[in-house]
Amino acid sequence: MSHMADANLMEKIVSLCKRRGFIFPGSEIYGGLAGTFDYGPYGVVLKENVERLWLGMFRDGRDDMYGVDAAILMNPKVWEASGHVAGFSDPLVECEKCKRRFRADHLQFKYKKDKNGKILEDQEVWVCENCGTENKKREPRQFNMMFKTHAGAMEDDSATVYLRPETAGGIFTNFKNVVDSLHPKLPFGIAQIGKAFRNEIAPRDFIFRLRELEQMEVEYFIHPLEWEQAFEEWRKMMHLFAEAIGLPQNMVHELEVEAKDRAHYSKRTIDFEFEYPFGRKELWGLAYRTDFDLSAHETNSKVELRYLDEATGEKFTPHVIEPSLGVDRTVLAILASAYREDDMGADVRTYLALAPKIAPMKAMVSPLLKNKPELVAKAREVRAELQKIHPAIAWDDNGNIGKRYRRQDEIGTPFCVTIDFDTLGEKPELKGTVTLRHRDTGEQERLTVAQVAGRIRAAIS
Ligand code: GAP
Repeated sequence: MSHMADANLMEKIVSLCKRRGFIFPGSEIYGGLAGTFDYGPYGVVLKENVERLWLGMFRDGRDDMYGVDAAILMNPKVWEASGHVAGFSDPLVECEKCKRRFRADHLQFKYKKDKNGKILEDQEVWVCENCGTENKKREPRQFNMMFKTHAGAMEDDSATVYLRPETAGGIFTNFKNVVDSLHPKLPFGIAQIGKAFRNEIAPRDFIFRLRELEQMEVEYFIHPLEWEQAFEEWRKMMHLFAEAIGLPQNMVHELEVEAKDRAHYSKRTIDFEFEYPFGRKELWGLAYRTDFDLSAHETNSKVELRYLDEATGEKFTPHVIEPSLGVDRTVLAILASAYREDDMGADVRTYLALAPKIAPMKAMVSPLLKNKPELVAKAREVRAELQKIHPAIAWDDNGNIGKRYRRQDEIGTPFCVTIDFDTLGEKPELKGTVTLRHRDTGEQERLTVAQVAGRIRAAIS
């Protein structure tokens, strides 16, 4: 079934994630906590595989990139300098009747009509999605999205700290440390993966809009004259990453963000949008942050954050290109584009067509019968052999073989390997061979263990 045609796709993905141990609602036994989710045994591996691939492409595979892992709690002056204390807010309105709060920019406004159906052009209204009340359009209140807490035993304003709303803050504040300790030549970048927190007015769409989220961010420091070239290079890199994690190219779109919609620090932004089941929405962002952050931190901290080009003697504040990728939105895009249903056998079969590189399990090994010690021993041996290629080789001897295949299909395991009596030599010509089943087609081949190893290696390299 074409996935865009399936109105229940999100429900099915959420249900599969719970059933198969990918993603659970946060604090579920206490009724949950809006805007939080927990990654389960397969979800955490999928997420780590995405992050590992990102680290390889955006940090470790390059000579001009450095890593940091900065503290989530930072001196609140960081967020004053960055403009988040004053301006990181969403427009908030409240339903007059049920008091449910909404983001004003997510509402549909319409003109009120009088008794005769005449449109009253001076009276705009919106309908509360919770209780159906028609509310008058009013000037929204600005609601700051940073989570506030207190450091230490005092709970007064002097002890206020914020949970970081973006990981970028910890990169800018370490610019000087990286320059002083490693002496990188410009252009160079600093990469970080970590949690960020936003008190979203209306968290929604599963792991799309969260209050606790994870980001993979790069701040790439450049000479101001080089910004267009660097912007273009990172734009291409983001498309390469989308391809590497298996997102279909035709589901990823670029949106040139208009000046009025850009963040306060940006002179150019491209949103990478993805065709989620609930519509085309922002997946990642690429921004030209100019020298906004380093200049603001220099002014506020009184610590010089300029760069001396030793070759030319020029001293200047570097400008910044920032590719910013949300991990959770990436995982959701992967799940949504990989979800498949077909009618293999009697019932509908569900599977995740994950790219083998990011699939949580690379293969599953199974003895045909779990009560035959000789089959189990051989299967254990085969699994150990395949684990020399990659440790994530699952073991499954529960239920009949068809059930085991279906389970692995839903986890997105690309290969299943079955050890049967022919492997042990019941048919002498098949001795030492195993059955290799392919997830997407259900096709089976008879191969030697060395051949199976070759297939797995080729798929994940
Ligand atoms: N440092 C730049 C920055 O934070 P942003 O566009 O606000 O820019 C970057 O966020 C990325 O973080 C987004 O493109 C998205 O992938 C992710 N993101 C932002 N808010 C999110 C939320 N509430 N839930 C999940 N992911 C979010």
